[in-house]
Amino acid sequence: MYTPAHPRARSMNFELLSYLKKQSDFTAVADVEAALTRGKSKKPKSTGKQGPANDALFRDIEELIEQGYNIEFHPYLGVKLIDIPDRLFEHEIREDLNTERVGKVLHIHDQVDSTNEAAWKLLESNPAAEDGTVILAERQVNGRGRLGRSWHSPAGCGIWMSVILRVQLPPDKLALLTATASVALANMLQQFIHLPSEIKWPNDVMVRGRKVAGVLVEARSTLPDTYVMGIGLNVNQQTADFPEELRGIATSLRIERPGSAPVNRVRVVRPLLFYLDSVYRLIHKKKYDKIARAWAEFVPMGGRKVRLSQGDKEFTGTVVELDPARGITLKLEGGKETKLFAAETVNNVREA
Ligand code: BTN
Repeated sequence: MYTPAHPRARSMNFELLSYLKKQSDFTAVADVEAALTRGKSKKPKSTGKQGPANDALFRDIEELIEQGYNIEFHPYLGVKLIDIPDRLFEHEIREDLNTERVGKVLHIHDQVDSTNEAAWKLLESNPAAEDGTVILAERQVNGRGRLGRSWHSPAGCGIWMSVILRVQLPPDKLALLTATASVALANMLQQFIHLPSEIKWPNDVMVRGRKVAGVLVEARSTLPDTYVMGIGLNVNQQTADFPEELRGIATSLRIERPGSAPVNRVRVVRPLLFYLDSVYRLIHKKKYDKIARAWAEFVPMGGRKVRLSQGDKEFTGTVVELDPARGITLKLEGGKETKLFAAETVNNVREA
């Protein structure tokens, strides 16, 4: 079930939109009209006064309003764009997006089963799909989480996104792809949204002790050197929007931000693509240690006493070293021995 998002976006007057974005105040409708027709026809320049604008311009403004743009009219002053809508419009996400790979190709859907599944379907129909191709959806009806869990992905509430990665990576570095996403998320939340973010082993992104984002990287044996990196970031849920069993452990940007005002997802997805692109660049440059160090800085477990589960065994010890690819080294309780637990064998680590 794949439905393209916002097919009517194509009928918007993008020239008008970009002109309105550049105006810091109300602009006389006649001036808007003059600016848009300048160069296209021999119409005289505007006098700066309000005057009758042609119907087409009014229709275009109305169309923008219908698409969710908040545009104010004033009888004397004219027209002003107040805000963009919280909709995953490609033209908004693409605006000034200065990335090398991530988001150069964007596919945006209203609804999908799972964006990870949509990415694999895309790769089936186009095995040459570009490195960094992004699939976004307003809603997932069958979002996948780690360990076979489902991921709650209601419409308009979050960033449900997958990125196709095409890169050769030594098998012992694969875990760095998940770390790439969690480092980008944690950095973006900290530096851009100003929220105190942490990474909980292995790659849950937490704010004030609750999970705000998760990462699921998948590989398929039929497509070598190809990965799908799925990211789910809760943005606009309020506590009651989460299923009951998640209420104590999940959070969203809206819940965590001062004033709990809704957050425009376009303003979050753009920096997220940018941060992802810059961390992913380190993978291409084989600067694996840099990612591991950045990841470790967000994991507040260094030197702490933890309980680690591996298969059906539990170990208690003090964390000596943490590495997203290598694993966790513990100084085991009651002895001098240190033991490295390989990343892929560790199910869970929590404070003891
Ligand atoms: C986790 O369990 O922590 C990982 C959750 C990953 C959810 C995202 S939402 C976008 C992408 N598509 C999916 O089906 N899952 C991932």
